[in-house]
Amino acid sequence: MAASDQTQSDYWNGDAGARWARHQATFDRVFTPLTERLFARAALRPGDAVLDVGCGAGATTLRAADAVGPSGRVTAADVSAPLLAVTARRAADRPPGGARIDIVEADAQTHAFADGAFAHLISRFGIMFFDDSTTAFANLRRALRPEGRLTCLCWRPLTENAWIAEPLGLIRALVPEPEPTPPDAPGPFRFADAERLRAILAAAGFREIAFAPVDEDLVLGHSETGSARAAAEAAAGFALDLGPASRLVRDQPPAIRERAYDLVLRDFETRAVDGRVRLAAACWLVTATR
Ligand SMILES: C[S@@+](CC[C@H](N)C(=O)[O-])C[C@H]1O[C@@H](n2cnc3c(N)ncnc32)[C@H](O)[C@@H]1O
Repeated sequence: MAASDQTQSDYWNGDAGARWARHQATFDRVFTPLTERLFARAALRPGDAVLDVGCGAGATTLRAADAVGPSGRVTAADVSAPLLAVTARRAADRPPGGARIDIVEADAQTHAFADGAFAHLISRFGIMFFDDSTTAFANLRRALRPEGRLTCLCWRPLTENAWIAEPLGLIRALVPEPEPTPPDAPGPFRFADAERLRAILAAAGFREIAFAPVDEDLVLGHSETGSARAAAEAAAGFALDLGPASRLVRDQPPAIRERAYDLVLRDFETRAVDGRVRLAAACWLVTATR
């Protein structure tokens, strides 16, 4: 989460963007079951024009390009230059002949997307960080054609997301309590209360707004040999270096970081089954029409 004196653009162009860019393959692996649910619901069609909002390192952009095929196109929009660089590299590495991919460094709130240009807006966890959500969604709605649709994923409450809550709970005694963030501040749990997002989407002009709960276990770490220890090491590394709990330990002295890692490692080792540490994730799959 951004520090209080930092803009979201600074945050995603700084350490956070660099971290997501460096570990894109790990994030994409961990989020695979959620990505599957997003695309199953979006049901993109060959020839569609798709806008991927807050596309990050481009996993969903590439997946959308595969879905819409050579007659379709995907616009990958994000404020983060380091993440867009990864998306651009991955797009360039595709075999020739696929959908056109346009990479746009753009703030979803203000970017002048062409009116009615897109059949579908998708986002995997890229919609919770706008300074002014109503302005952003109104701007994005304008970019959809009249019967255009929105399909996005955002997190349900922390308490339902054991993949974050479990490591957070374990390390809480070791580190200072984080400053509480106002419920409407940009951040991963901003739309945990679906009614908040429903009101914003309605104010932006969207119709047929619906929320479907998505519950999936995420594999935070795995071991090819089936070793519980190795799986727990990978999972603890993900939780404390990359996941949302990492912000609590990142700036702590090495001794605290080691104790935190040890606590989480021991807990995760008891949870490993068949060389995999799985914890529950809970999201909203949000759909709406223009
Ligand atoms: C949690 S990351 C998700 C990235 C990607 N969708 C994924 O699932 O890997 C949130 C993304 O939203 C982007 N973002 C934040 N504010 C934005 C804005 N106002 N306009 C466009 N993108 C934004 C960030 O740069 C970041 O890439």
